[in-house]
Amino acid sequence: MFTDLQKKVVVITGACGLLGKTFLKALLDNNAIVVAADINIEQLEKLKVETNSPDLFTVVMDITSEPSIKSAIADIQKKHDKIDALINNAYPRNKNYGNDVEKVTYKDFCENTDLHLGGYFLCMQQFALFFKQQGHGNVISMSSIYGVMPPRFEVYENAGFTMPVEYAAIKSGVIHLTKYFAKYYKGKNIRFNCVSPGGIFNNQDESFLIKYNNLSLNKGMLDREDITGALLFLVSEASQYINGQNIIVDDGFSL
Ligand SMILES: NC(=O)c1ccc[n+]([C@@H]2O[C@H](COP(=O)([O-])OP(=O)(O)OC[C@H]3O[C@@H](n4cnc5c(N)ncnc54)[C@H](O)[C@@H]3O)[C@@H](O)[C@H]2O)c1
Repeated sequence: MFTDLQKKVVVITGACGLLGKTFLKALLDNNAIVVAADINIEQLEKLKVETNSPDLFTVVMDITSEPSIKSAIADIQKKHDKIDALINNAYPRNKNYGNDVEKVTYKDFCENTDLHLGGYFLCMQQFALFFKQQGHGNVISMSSIYGVMPPRFEVYENAGFTMPVEYAAIKSGVIHLTKYFAKYYKGKNIRFNCVSPGGIFNNQDESFLIKYNNLSLNKGMLDREDITGALLFLVSEASQYINGQNIIVDDGFSL
């Protein structure tokens, strides 16, 4: 066990995704009660069966819909009486997401920033309203090193994918929103922080990994489990006075 989370009720959005599944397992292993929130009903059902834990609960929630978030918060409060932390971790994007900058239309740029940055804003806003009433709260939002630094485009040459321009706008926005909310809620006992991972290993091809790893300091591209330490720390009381901060977990890639 990394830290005893003492049955804290932790809501995680995008819980059925690559990092979401890893985070929720780490939270359960450290004695949290986890509410997996995702837009994908089928995946939530699968998650429940696969995880098979009495401390895992699920709720269908769309981070881009205020009524959906409000209804999820009401359901969670009814069932658990409290919410200790929100992890803003969903990854909404439209079907044209991921193009080179010259091919990104104004419509697609706006739609993707609306969904992702707008959705993170809406969750921060709606959960903060609840947290204010409750008297305490903790919001951890997933940003990325690409919210801090411009892409190393040379790593993506011939890779068949790029680091999208929307992502840069969204993730830098998430870091700044975090600081904004932290200051706005001065005196309300609500913390707002970010975790910014570098690339996460997900069977990328060998030539991409060689280029990526050459720019890292020790391990190279990290595995999804390597991000859990920073997340658990921010959920725990050990980080009680850390507020408005961004923790970069990238094996030094961004240096
Ligand atoms: N995977 C990486 O390499 C990496 C690196 C740095 C940062 N991140 C960040 O970590 C977070 C999680 O990334 P991931 O790779 O696990 O994503 P993923 O694509 O594997 O999973 C995303 C999840 O979000 C859900 N989702 C999509 N739209 C939603 C909506 N409107 N409401 C609720 N849920 C919705 C999906 O159903 C899915 O379960 C994202 O913020 C991402 O930017 C990921």
